[in-house]
Amino acid sequence: MSASAPVAKYLKDYRPAPFLIDRVDLEFDILDSHTSVRARMVVKRNPKADASDTLQLDGSAELVAVRLDGEALAPSAWTLADEVLTLPGVPESFILDIETRLEPAANTSLMGLYASNGNLYTQCEPEGFRKITYYLDRPDVMAKFSTTLIADRQRFPVLLSNGNKVGEGLTENRKRHWVKWVDPYRKPAYLFAVVAGKLSVLRDHYTTRGGRKVTLEIYVAPADMDKTAHAMSSLKKSMQWDEQVFGLEYDLDTYMIVAVGDFNMGAMENKGLNIFNTKFVLANRETATDFDFEGVEAVIAHEYFHNWTGNRVTCRDWFQLSLKEGLTVFRDQEFSADMQSRAVKRIEDARGLRALQFPEDAGPTAHPVRPESYIEMNNFYTLTVYEKGAEVVRMIHTLVGAAGFRQGMDLYFRRHDGQAVTCEDFVAAMADANHIDLTQFKRWYSQAGTPVLDVSLDWFAEGGAASLTVRQHCPDTPGQTDKLPFHIPLAVGLLAADGSELPVTLASDDAPGPLTRVLSVTEAEQTFTFVGLNEKPLPSLLRNFSAPVRLNYAYRDEELAFLCAHDSDAFNRWEAGQTLATRELLRLYRGEGEATLSACLIDAFAQLLDHADSDPAFAALALTLPAEVELLELQDHADPARLCQVREQARAELAQALAERWDAAWRRHSGLAFRHEDAGRRALKNLALSYLALLPGGDAGALASQQYQQADNMTDRMGALAALADSHSHARDTLFADFAQRFADEALVMDKWFTLQAGSRRQDVLRTVTALMEHPAFALTNPNKVRALIGAFGRNLAAFHAADGSGYRFMADQVLAIDAINPQVASRLVSCFNRRSRVEPARAELMRVELARVLAHDGLSRDVYEIVSKNLN
Ligand code: ARG
Ligand code: ZN
Repeated sequence: MSASAPVAKYLKDYRPAPFLIDRVDLEFDILDSHTSVRARMVVKRNPKADASDTLQLDGSAELVAVRLDGEALAPSAWTLADEVLTLPGVPESFILDIETRLEPAANTSLMGLYASNGNLYTQCEPEGFRKITYYLDRPDVMAKFSTTLIADRQRFPVLLSNGNKVGEGLTENRKRHWVKWVDPYRKPAYLFAVVAGKLSVLRDHYTTRGGRKVTLEIYVAPADMDKTAHAMSSLKKSMQWDEQVFGLEYDLDTYMIVAVGDFNMGAMENKGLNIFNTKFVLANRETATDFDFEGVEAVIAHEYFHNWTGNRVTCRDWFQLSLKEGLTVFRDQEFSADMQSRAVKRIEDARGLRALQFPEDAGPTAHPVRPESYIEMNNFYTLTVYEKGAEVVRMIHTLVGAAGFRQGMDLYFRRHDGQAVTCEDFVAAMADANHIDLTQFKRWYSQAGTPVLDVSLDWFAEGGAASLTVRQHCPDTPGQTDKLPFHIPLAVGLLAADGSELPVTLASDDAPGPLTRVLSVTEAEQTFTFVGLNEKPLPSLLRNFSAPVRLNYAYRDEELAFLCAHDSDAFNRWEAGQTLATRELLRLYRGEGEATLSACLIDAFAQLLDHADSDPAFAALALTLPAEVELLELQDHADPARLCQVREQARAELAQALAERWDAAWRRHSGLAFRHEDAGRRALKNLALSYLALLPGGDAGALASQQYQQADNMTDRMGALAALADSHSHARDTLFADFAQRFADEALVMDKWFTLQAGSRRQDVLRTVTALMEHPAFALTNPNKVRALIGAFGRNLAAFHAADGSGYRFMADQVLAIDAINPQVASRLVSCFNRRSRVEPARAELMRVELARVLAHDGLSRDVYEIVSKNLN
């Protein structure tokens, strides 16, 4: 960064806005060369703020004119500096007219108004509205919006904004048309949206429980109409689920979803007009995998659920982002759990949290669920705010139960509908509705880092009692040391030697306790004594992953194998297998003992595979070794290349030891006609194929080719390709070439093709990725493409961490190139340097050199500056 380093904003500095905006009437005049925006705002002093007659508006658009109560203001009557427009000496209330001039075609940041494929779209959260006009661009300023769009009829037949369409017509020469929209609900500017362009629409209807007939519309490029059915059915399911589970109904007559191929994130919940990355709308069986179908359903649900948790009740300031995101992720997780297998969903979510959020919480950008400061808010749309935030909400759910949680939600809406509030307000509603004290619990919002629980069990045969001692501590994180104990719900079960479940009874109980008991851990060290036991029990701890913590317990390997086979808690069956596998992998990595996998692990996997068909989706998860990134977190001064090599070696051993079983599993689940509900069988089959591909002299090439050619769906086609992605075989080249040709016109499918190659174990990955950047389907300006190719390379531990530093150098070059185009995307990419402290010193130094080079670059964005400077601290 050059002259002045960017400055941070602090939660402690929050003050109510000095002015409020009651109404905004916007007019977008869309012309070939540019778009003119006229904003008329009804402004008044905020009675709840300190009196001031200086109005300061956020904005970075080209300012054309300012009028106050109809009078044009001379340039001397205002100042514009650092993206703030200052108007001194304004009256108590007035009408302000602002005219700006935008160039959407030149806007590569994809924030504010931008062009994609000739159409226009907006993204305003968190601070994009200021790129459109000058405004009090903060979520606690809520106004009623109307929007008129005027554009050429041929080029922009579809003109959309929030709320209800109240009028439309033609201009005098009939070449242009206009549409006016009015949103009856007050909203912050970040929920504003417009869309203009040539789009096709899938239309359907939904009648709410209360009898409102809602028109549902999904707008996509004409060629994508055959990929919209799943999104529509997902939307209807979401609407129904929110009525059934939370009693929440939709509140406008139209619900619109628009898909766009150039989008920074997943999707956006603009009131009545969601804008989505195509990745989370478009799906049919030829182009989308089972995983993609699941993703579409979850994101459609997520954005729909925001209508209540986010839009009707919004955030007071951006530090409260998890108020809406953590809660809405929790809601979409519960929805998905109800749509599929609850246990499998929980395992997937916990696995994601541990592989991605735990490292974030242990790294240089660690921050609390409610951050205390930020330089660039876009950097705080994080796994911590979203996924850990959802875990925090889930812990409240666990503590108060489903009915208590519903009461808390009801009270939250009764108190705060139409308001901009804080995380404190949410917790207060939960506490008040359930008459419990959540004071200590709130530390989950303010303390960063992943708590560690060290648990031990003492057995007292004479008294038939076992006492469980739980110690907790939380590692220091940047700016936070000496943390106070958390309030942790710890779900515990007890297993007998025959695998049956024993009641978890405390001395204070007058009857046998439940089979799963949620203990409230609140102290740094605490002991719980279980009574009425005839034998020493084996504890099953943190059932269903009841808290986002790391838990240590000195299980013997045989005990883990036993839990893996017998625990009634599916999550802990999975967890026991993963713990056993992690131990083995780290032992091999450290070169301790035999250089081969233990019989205990191989037997456990054999048993899982023998029982796989009763729940193939679960089996596919249980038979997958812990990810390399998870292993990296458990090792100091790690050599990432060696970690990858050890994991591959372990996979090869499992392939050989269980070869017949893998082959049988592959055959049992092959050649079936496609049904969505067979996703678990496909997952197991493709896992089997990936193991078979590791057999020396095996015929995986032939099996994969057969599967690829006969595939009637993308999951199987991708499974075949993935199984060969690391090989140098002729079959591989043939399949990859066929795939690229077959799907040349399908942008989202080409993303998969890029990702498979960028994630390959082959030595030539960097050369391949560099060459693919020249491929006609690649574009540095498209976030999906960058994530699919360059992002995937950054996640390829072996290639990114190449000992010669070539991976680091490549990534730093790309970060700088992309930063000039789209800072948000660049800042996500540069985060792959965040685990520098985990890797061995030689690599860490090579990483530091590249980070320093990025930081020294002239004109670096605030986004990248914030991440890199935290890295180098
Ligand atoms: N609120 C959106 C969601 O549903 C995310 C928008 C984030 N956009 C951004 N440019 N940071 O999660
Ligand atoms: Zn969200």
